[in-house]
Amino acid sequence: MNPAMQDQESDKPPSSPPRPARPWRVAVLANIKEHDKPLPSDVPPDTGADYDYIETINLIRAALETDGHWTMFIPADSNLPYALKTAKPDICFNIAEGLGGDAREAQIPALLELLKIPYTGSRVLTNAIALDKTLTKRIWRDRRLPVAPFQEFHTGEEPLRPELRFPLFVKPAREGTGMGVDARAIVHNEGELRERARYVVSMYKQPALVETYLSGREFTVAIMGRPDSRLYSLHPEWYDADGFHRFPILELDSTRSVTPGVYGLEAKAQSIGSQGAPGYICPAQVEPDLAKKLQHYAWRGHHLLGALDVSRVDFRLDSEGNPCLLEINPLPGLTPDYSDLCLIANADGISYTDLILEILYLGASRWNMLAPREIPLPPPKKRG
Ligand SMILES: Nc1ncnc2c1ncn2[C@@H]1O[C@H](COP(=O)(O)OP(=O)(O)O)[C@@H](O)[C@H]1O
Ligand SMILES: [Mg+2]
Repeated sequence: MNPAMQDQESDKPPSSPPRPARPWRVAVLANIKEHDKPLPSDVPPDTGADYDYIETINLIRAALETDGHWTMFIPADSNLPYALKTAKPDICFNIAEGLGGDAREAQIPALLELLKIPYTGSRVLTNAIALDKTLTKRIWRDRRLPVAPFQEFHTGEEPLRPELRFPLFVKPAREGTGMGVDARAIVHNEGELRERARYVVSMYKQPALVETYLSGREFTVAIMGRPDSRLYSLHPEWYDADGFHRFPILELDSTRSVTPGVYGLEAKAQSIGSQGAPGYICPAQVEPDLAKKLQHYAWRGHHLLGALDVSRVDFRLDSEGNPCLLEINPLPGLTPDYSDLCLIANADGISYTDLILEILYLGASRWNMLAPREIPLPPPKKRG
C-alpha cells in the first residue's frame, strides 16, 4: 500500500468504503462507430457493429466522475500507444473491441500489459480465447460443461462429422454482437450448409463454426466479482459468500423477432419494445432447477476461461430442455437501456453509475490501487 493511501485509510471508520488516496485519472478506451465513413469494399457489411456510440462513452465518463475521478476518452486505434504516453492515465476503463486480426478484443489489454498500465476487466488470454468460440467450447467441453456438438470449417468443403445432424447453425467463429448471424445461419441440408460455410469463410475471413441447432429457449447470464471482491467493492452487500454476485437471468424471446428463433445483429438492433424486437424478460421465469444450472454453468464458464470481474454467458436449451453454453462475453456491452448487461443490472436494482463504478473498483483493486476494506464487513447476501 502506498503511504499516502495508508494515512487516508487510517482516518476512516472500520467499514467505510475503500477509497483511493487521490482521484484517479481514468481513460475510457473504446472504438467508436463511424457512420459517416464508408466501409472498404473488402470487409463484411456489419464491420464495426460491435463498436460503441460516443454517447455511451460520455455516460461512462459521467458515471466515473460521480466518484470524483478525472476522465478522458482515448480512441483505441493505432495512435493509442502515443496517446497513452501523453495522457498518463492511472487506469484504463477498457471496452475496446480492437481492430482486425484474429484476437482483436485482446489487442488493447496486450498493449496495456506492455506499457504496464492498469485496466479494468479480463486480461489478454481470456479476451483472445473468448473471441474464438471454437476454442472456448473446446475448453468448456474438456471440463464437461454442456456445449452443442460442433465442427470448425476452414474452407466449407470439409466432410461433415456424423454426430452433426440437421438442422445446423453456422456462424463466424470470431465475431460478436450477432455479426454474421441471421435467419440464414440455420441450415437444413448439405447444400445450405456448404453455401453458408463458404460465405462465412470468404466474407469474414475466418473459420465458420458449425453447431447443432439448439431449438429451445435462450438465456444470458451475467456474473460479477471474485473471491475477495467484498474487500474492495463499494457494495459488499451485493455479493454471495463466495465473492460473486449472481445477476437475475435474462431470457431473450426471439419467437416474434425480425429473425424468429435467432438473436442476431438485426434483432439486437431493434429498439426494445418495438415490433420485430426480441422480448427481454428479466428476471426470466424459469424452474429453480434450471435457474441453478444456468447460474452454475455461467460461473464455471467464467472461471474456466479466467474471466475477471464481470462477464455474460449466453445459453440455449436443446430440444430436450437441457442448457448448452454458446459463448462468453468478457467485454459485455455497456450501452444503457440497450445492452443485455445494462438491462440485467437495471432489473437487479443496480444503477448504471453503480455498475460502472463497481467495474472500476474491482479492476483497480487487482492492480493494487486500493487498500482492502477493513473488517467488519456486512454479512454476505443469502442465496435464495
Ligand atoms: N447452436 C445454436 N443454435 C441455435 N441458435 C444459435 C446457436 N448459436 C448461436 N445461436 C443464435 O445466434 C445468436 C448469436 O450467437 P452467439 O454465439 O451468442 O454469438 P454473438 O452473440 O457473439 O454474435 C445467439 O444469441 C442465438 O440466438
Ligand atoms: Mg452472444
